[in-house]
Amino acid sequence: MLIHWPNAQIPIADSINALCKVKRSGLAKHIGVANYTVAMLDEATKAASEPLACLQIETHPYLDQTKVLAAARRHGMAVVGYCPLARGKVPADPVLQKVGRAHGKSPAQVSLRFLEEERIIPIPRTSKRERLAENLGSLDFKLSDAEMAEIAMLTRPGSRIVSPLQAPQWDS
Ligand SMILES: NC(=O)c1ccc[n+]([C@@H]2O[C@H](COP(=O)([O-])OP(=O)(O)OC[C@H]3O[C@@H](n4cnc5c(N)ncnc54)[C@H](OP(=O)(O)O)[C@@H]3O)[C@@H](O)[C@H]2O)c1
Repeated sequence: MLIHWPNAQIPIADSINALCKVKRSGLAKHIGVANYTVAMLDEATKAASEPLACLQIETHPYLDQTKVLAAARRHGMAVVGYCPLARGKVPADPVLQKVGRAHGKSPAQVSLRFLEEERIIPIPRTSKRERLAENLGSLDFKLSDAEMAEIAMLTRPGSRIVSPLQAPQWDS
């Protein structure tokens, strides 16, 4: 069970204490948070009386999430990546297409593999059975260090897709 968004009206410690109570009562096997920033993760882990197993955040090759990823690692949290296909933008990417051609893989599979190699668990969404199979095909190949470095160069400002009104001040 994850807290979907931090709520500015509720102190983080209160939210986390409630979440920990849910776990202790057996209603959730594991608990975690989504869309938390570095400072929020520091505060949440300090308040938590149960392990926070996971952080869910937006991740794709265009978005630099270095700071919050480092914080999640520091706190021993698994990272789940949403929008891992940048909401369908990756198929048109020339770099992902080129890397894909070298492996007989699609740009979507390369994007997912890139995240997996970074120890991020991507959760791509599709309404199409054939794409579900395609996306699972990210699990059976490896990217070279040079390919990883080339894809890491794709980050660019303004590439965050999900930032609703209730979003926190993101780590730059
Ligand atoms: N925690 C949060 O705040 C949060 C925020 C946003 C999203 N999420 C979750 O994250 C999950 C995924 O994120 P998302 O749906 O926003 O973005 P996404 O997975 O990056 O993109 C989904 C889009 O990509 C297309 N697609 C899927 N596989 C493809 C492939 N192999 N080749 C080309 N296009 C492909 C899909 O179209 P088709 O259906 O036509 O295949 C769909 O339009 C969702 O389950 C969502 O609930 C969580």
